[in-house]
Amino acid sequence: MSTGHPIGIDFGGTGIKAAAVDLRAGNFASDREKIKTPRPATPAAVAEVFAELVGRFHISDSPIGVTVPGVVRHGVVHSAANIDPTWIGADADAIFSAALSREVHIVNDADAAGLAEVEFGAAKGQRGLIIVTTLGTGIGSALIHDGVLVPNSELGHLEIGGHDAESRAANSVREAEQLSWQAWAERLTTYYRAVERLFAPDLFVVGGGVSKQSDEFLPLLDIETPIVPAQLRNRAGIIGAALVASRQG
Ligand code: BGC
Repeated sequence: MSTGHPIGIDFGGTGIKAAAVDLRAGNFASDREKIKTPRPATPAAVAEVFAELVGRFHISDSPIGVTVPGVVRHGVVHSAANIDPTWIGADADAIFSAALSREVHIVNDADAAGLAEVEFGAAKGQRGLIIVTTLGTGIGSALIHDGVLVPNSELGHLEIGGHDAESRAANSVREAEQLSWQAWAERLTTYYRAVERLFAPDLFVVGGGVSKQSDEFLPLLDIETPIVPAQLRNRAGIIGAALVASRQG
């Protein structure tokens, strides 16, 4: 195991995944380790899982970054749309740093994925305003201008037609309502049009597990802005978290 590589941890609804990341190559420097997300996934329960996961790497000196599906300011979580409500107000940087006996920095999950796609993936080398959206349980967003992230954009919660956007257009809604690709694409068109009216981005990148089926729905969207699938797929969260850890550590 190479030492010195930061570790990225992706905290998701079903699994918590971690790997050491080689930031020169933009890829994993170790196998990916995974443990099921505890129930309830309180910060304390999750911290225990992190300690076990990180112990598997036998590296004691590397900084750690962690994705969280909520608003993150200065290491504190401020929203919990799809996670346990006890996260709200939790100083996760402090809780995890204590549990892991080293410096840990949290970052919004979509922001992590966005940073990774801009640095190593679908938006590498692109200038201007890139909006990375993740279509999963909710809708996450990352707003990145000339490589600089404006964190916590939370565009999944835009109110569109009287609805919280992610409650109409997230991939979990497509699954729950068994929407056809065409029906879902119509909802996504409404969503992305609203976002392009507000921000006039140069490029949309679409991440989340469903992005591997992007051929089914991206060609059906009727929007002005170029839109491409994410490239790093399920590695984006871990790589983005490690990037954040290395920049802050
Ligand atoms: C949360 C965001 C998160 C997104 C994707 C939304 O419900 O508010 O913080 O990035 O889901 O997980």
